[in-house]
Amino acid sequence: MKELKHVIESQQFDRPLLSKLFSLAEKMRDNSKNYQLPGKILATLFYEPSTRTRLSFESAMLQLNGRVISTENAKEFSSFSKGESLEDSIKVVSGYADVIAIRHFEIGAAKRAASVSTIPIINAGDGAGQHPTQALLDLYTIQRHFSEVDGLTVAMVGDLKYGRTVRSLCYLLGRFFNVKVLFVAPPICEMANDIKSFLDKQQTPWKEVEFDVAIEEADCIYMTRVQRERFLHMDNYEKAANKYVINSTSLPKMKENAIVMHPLPRGPEISPEVDEDPRMIYFEQAKNGVWIRMALMMLLLSDID
Ligand code: CP
Repeated sequence: MKELKHVIESQQFDRPLLSKLFSLAEKMRDNSKNYQLPGKILATLFYEPSTRTRLSFESAMLQLNGRVISTENAKEFSSFSKGESLEDSIKVVSGYADVIAIRHFEIGAAKRAASVSTIPIINAGDGAGQHPTQALLDLYTIQRHFSEVDGLTVAMVGDLKYGRTVRSLCYLLGRFFNVKVLFVAPPICEMANDIKSFLDKQQTPWKEVEFDVAIEEADCIYMTRVQRERFLHMDNYEKAANKYVINSTSLPKMKENAIVMHPLPRGPEISPEVDEDPRMIYFEQAKNGVWIRMALMMLLLSDID
């Protein structure tokens, strides 16, 4: 039986599976022509906006010599707008494609989709739940940069309550030894207790610290956007926004070999004035998404082991 049937949450990935995925991504970088999925069809069903995730999935499938069908604004332009249930849509699209990448506004939507799908489902973000493929490409980027993830200090900054990327990344970091996690968030956007409990269980130390402490101590500073669209009350958003910014005054405080990551899109939390500093690796990070998504689809759709 296949090790990976669907990709729903980061907890599915233990260290052997991470190694297998990252080593496949490296081999594909060296010679992608050896890895092909001719005729396979990816359906991208996106009920929330996206630039990177949808286009990198589509680019990945096209580079594998497969094909793509897509609904990029499924909330408005799919039959969701006529009242069709997610389950019915998935049952139908399962008959048109070989794999579905779905982004949805509700936590748990990808899991619901997998429960009725006859083909692999990939969670491309479910509300404030998880974004496992982002976390995989984030970890891959960290590992490529430092060679080892064990022993690193990772600071997560910004909207940690609604930020699905940081939630998914914590589940992966908890697999490594001597990793320390620093959380920096406004009081209404603190990391949720389920993630803190998970890290405790994994004996991964975490601390809530001030921004200046995090940027001085961290090897990896993972910035996130405060997501206006997740707030019901705009006054709460105003309280949380624009608190932490990496700009030219931050650079001397950071370790010389630190890296700054961001899932993008960014808001004011990283000033474009620092983009040329070699420690800013968010565009390289975004590019890595294509390799990781190519490798994931190979694992899901081929006999490769
Ligand atoms: N990082 C990320 O998920 O970006 P998009 O929303 O553009 O897909």
